[in-house]
Amino acid sequence: MEIDVFTLFPEWFAWFTAQRHVGNALADGVRLACVNYREHTPLSAGQVDDTPFGGGAGMLLRVDVVESALRARYGVDPVELPRRRRVIALAPSGRLLDDALVDELAGEGALTLLCGRYEGFDERIVEHFASEEVSIGRYVLSGGELAAMVLCDALLRKRPGALGDERSSAEESFSASLGGDPEYPHYTRPAEHRGWRVPEVLLSGHHERIAQWRRERSRERAERLRGSVGR
Ligand SMILES: C[S@@+](CC[C@H](N)C(=O)[O-])C[C@H]1O[C@@H](n2cnc3c(N)ncnc32)[C@H](O)[C@@H]1O
Repeated sequence: MEIDVFTLFPEWFAWFTAQRHVGNALADGVRLACVNYREHTPLSAGQVDDTPFGGGAGMLLRVDVVESALRARYGVDPVELPRRRRVIALAPSGRLLDDALVDELAGEGALTLLCGRYEGFDERIVEHFASEEVSIGRYVLSGGELAAMVLCDALLRKRPGALGDERSSAEESFSASLGGDPEYPHYTRPAEHRGWRVPEVLLSGHHERIAQWRRERSRERAERLRGSVGR
């Protein structure tokens, strides 16, 4: 799998790629490259942004700058790109990233992530160069870099070998094996601390009862989540 991240801050990703599970994925053949819009701007003095038509606060990433960076990377007119690979513009109002979307993206051979900055993108970037917009939550970050890392992290840990133990990612919150529900609670030693006992069933060694207890806790959490989402 290859992932290209277009950003004004490629150095942010040095920390991310140094993390072990990301390193494992990279060693296993995933390629993660950053492209700096600024290095490809056709404008003078490294300009990449401009003021919005119609007025208003802030600056927007220019369409000609993003086009130039995409052309330099792929050697084609970027309007062709969404037919060749999934091009995701990170945006607070995009499709919400969830486990199903992560699974979908993990199955792609190639991904392009466009990080916005300032007030965001000139809308023509989204309309003509992107396949879709993806959001990591209904709040506003300063830029798409953290959102890109969140997306990559969620996606890379799904790859075989990325985590120490394969089972870690199989039965997790929102996975198909839990019917899309959150994961059940976990406990480890000591079995008692300040009078707080680990549930007896987990110490019983009775696999069927443990599985049933976990399923029930998982469903309870799903119920609670539905209640809090509705609020
Ligand atoms: C300050 S934000 C722009 C917010 C935009 N003016 C708005 O109100 O929707 C700058 C960039 O950060 C990224 N970003 C911010 N919040 C995000 C989120 N929740 N999910 C994904 N990307 C986000 C996007 O790439 C966006 O273009």
